[in-house]
Amino acid sequence: MNICVIGTGYVGLVTGTVFSDLGNDVICVDNVKEKIDSICRGVMPIYEPGLEEMVNRNIKEERLSFTTDLAEAVKKSEIIFICVGTPPKDDGETDLSYVESAAKEIALAMNGYKIIVNKSTVPVGTGDLVSKVINQYKKNDADFDVVSNPEFLREGAAIRDALSPDRIIIGAPTKQVAVKLLELYAMIGKPMIITDVYSAEIIKYASNAFLATKISFINAISNICELVGANVNDVSKGIGLDARIGSQFLEAGLGFGGSCFPKDIKSLVHTSGKFGYDFDLLQAVLKINEDRVPHFVSLIDEKMKGVKGKVIGVLGLAFKADTDDIREAKSIEIISALLEKGAKIKAYDPVAMENTKKVLPDITYCKSSYEAAEGVDALVVVTEWREFKLLNMEKIKESMKQPIIFDGRNIYDPVRKKKMGFEYYGIGRGYKG
Ligand code: UGA
Repeated sequence: MNICVIGTGYVGLVTGTVFSDLGNDVICVDNVKEKIDSICRGVMPIYEPGLEEMVNRNIKEERLSFTTDLAEAVKKSEIIFICVGTPPKDDGETDLSYVESAAKEIALAMNGYKIIVNKSTVPVGTGDLVSKVINQYKKNDADFDVVSNPEFLREGAAIRDALSPDRIIIGAPTKQVAVKLLELYAMIGKPMIITDVYSAEIIKYASNAFLATKISFINAISNICELVGANVNDVSKGIGLDARIGSQFLEAGLGFGGSCFPKDIKSLVHTSGKFGYDFDLLQAVLKINEDRVPHFVSLIDEKMKGVKGKVIGVLGLAFKADTDDIREAKSIEIISALLEKGAKIKAYDPVAMENTKKVLPDITYCKSSYEAAEGVDALVVVTEWREFKLLNMEKIKESMKQPIIFDGRNIYDPVRKKKMGFEYYGIGRGYKG
């Protein structure tokens, strides 16, 4: 099939690349020329395991190309995916201006029947908006249909998730249109749900909101664990083995960050309000999440009897492991709060330091975890990178000024760390008990 993908962010770049790898002819479009030039040279705008190799292979085999010429790409394609950014406004509402301008440009270029697919995360009703804009701007009687086909890939596992999703959601206006999308996804061989456009749009938000709710739930439970002296990791295992609950997304920690959960939950609260429903449950999910960093920073402050003038080593800056993305990363909040209290920061992350330097230019960036630990009064784990779990902790302990660890992601075993001579504080592990 001839496919056009508009937007080469996480979703667009990965979607286009995977479709080409499945044997389709794909043209990816972006209006940022430097980005397109850089991808054509084989330099990816994001760190994502496996992406660079797959992009370069499909460019070489001439199934994948990149351009800034949206009109030409639309003319050559029968299915057009809109994968542009949908950032939040101050009140939580989703800014749909990039979606609207993509729809307008598609309309102006249409030279025959097109299926236009919304893959960006967009509030319910956006399919109608795209149809309205296209009808307003199209220059001929070319017909079109608008489909909602939300994406569920996770950063850091994007290629794997796109090639092997748990399910594929197709919200289409008619069976014939749905069948076209079914054909496109047939090779993936995963369960497909065919539904109407509104339901598909809601499925995306409901999925992210449910996962975020699980995280806030376990974080609230971790607060109780701390007060009574229980271990949230065991509690999480104990409830997660109930198949009705499931063990995923039950890791207590510093809360959810990234470019999706915080924004999508606020958007769903906003949309619900617009339709007259007060989504109290999600307000509570957000509140629990917002309390995570202040709670952790006050623990550090309390146990260190103030951080003023102290040097703190921070392991991990990315919002989660296996990505260089620092959008809504807890590291920024934690470091800013510690700086505010007068601490000095030495930080290390395997891939996210360049991005962090733009936001926090005045801290010391280190070449390794060992360098970040050298001479510090405490070490704070913020991101659960695998390499942090494999460190030589004897070496770390010897080089620290004081062997204190604040483990914001519960990556270490408290008993072992204490035996090694560390003063150890994790999340929900009864340190106040
Ligand atoms: C999330 C969803 O998982 C994807 O399915 C979805 O496609 C994507 O948003 C999106 O809407 O585009 P992502 O933001 O890449 O993916 O990251 P997640 O792996 O979901 O993690 C989100 C946050 O939750 C991270 O800050 C992570 O550290 C935190 N988290 C996750 C926890 O605190 N505990 C957990 O048990 C799991």
